[in-house]
Amino acid sequence: MTTSAERITAASDISELAAEADRARVSYGDDALVVCDRLVRIYAAEGIEVQALQGLDLLINSGELTAMVGASGSGKSTLMNILAGLDAPTAGTVKVAGRDLATMSARERLNYRRDVVGFIWQQTSRNLLPYLTASQNVITPMRFSGAGRRARNARAAELLGVLGIAHCANRRPDQMSGGEQQRAAIATALANKPDLLLADEPTGELDSATARDVFAALQTANSELGATVLVVTHDPAVSSQVRRTIAIADGRTSMETLRHSAADHAVEYAVLDRAGRLQLPLAMTEPLGMRDRVRLESEPDHIGVWPDSASPGDRPRGVSHGKHAKDPR
Ligand SMILES: Nc1ncnc2c1ncn2[C@@H]1O[C@H](COP(=O)(O)OP(=O)(O)OP(=O)(O)O)[C@@H](O)[C@H]1O
Ligand SMILES: [Mg+2]
Repeated sequence: MTTSAERITAASDISELAAEADRARVSYGDDALVVCDRLVRIYAAEGIEVQALQGLDLLINSGELTAMVGASGSGKSTLMNILAGLDAPTAGTVKVAGRDLATMSARERLNYRRDVVGFIWQQTSRNLLPYLTASQNVITPMRFSGAGRRARNARAAELLGVLGIAHCANRRPDQMSGGEQQRAAIATALANKPDLLLADEPTGELDSATARDVFAALQTANSELGATVLVVTHDPAVSSQVRRTIAIADGRTSMETLRHSAADHAVEYAVLDRAGRLQLPLAMTEPLGMRDRVRLESEPDHIGVWPDSASPGDRPRGVSHGKHAKDPR
């Protein structure tokens, strides 16, 4: 339970965060497709406050396929709902394709959801209209975008074909498997050529073989149809197949894993936020007994981080973040 004094402190922290975000807004992520700058989302229900996002920073470039992982309750869906234009942040900046999502009018929000962003939910039943065929589902969002009938039909046939479900064109969702439904959902989300495709655990209800097909469809959406894709997943097989995996912890981006090709071993990076904060993974700090405070040493090409108990002469027992020494790029 949060006391009112704590609430006031939280509120002033947030206005400070927002003011700082305003000051730094100009240059941060200018050329990125998705820019989240110190994003805060607080839910208040029945006198209890939940800080679902606590100053989250994230940049995603156009053309990327990014996986997002994190424990239950870490804020993944909260972020996806904000990026989808379904929810607004409490503070901070969020921009997609140059549009400021925090200040959009209702009409702009509608246009944004129709033209800029597409989304796929975990529950297959939430993605498609049950009384329409796959083809009609894909065509529906295009009806409001001014495309002619012939162009709409051609686009629907193309999408269903590329995603491997041409055989489902005239079937309703209840006549399709879970994996086919999710691929039809991807086709529907792509109908209006969105800049950004969001998928919140799209394979969560599927067995692993079907999940692979659906993930392959997201890869196709990215590589062949040019969509920038952000996919939330608990499936290690998915994060092992993307170049970039971002981990969210306690409402902030904490770690990133980058790999240059599927065969490459993954390289872990900690996110250094704009205030210079760095979250060290427990798996690294615990074995060294690092708690509360660590000792830093500045070297020409890296920074050494040592347990507080180590004396200055006691060198290499700590972890070391070498920019040049360890950077594989
Ligand atoms: N509408 C809401 N009202 C109040 N609290 C909420 C609401 N939605 C989410 N929360 C809380 O915000 C926090 C983040 O929730 P969120 O759904 O973003 O987590 P998640 O990372 O998607 O988790 P999961 O992996 O279980 O889907 C949680 O503590 C959750 O209980
Ligand atoms: Mg979620």
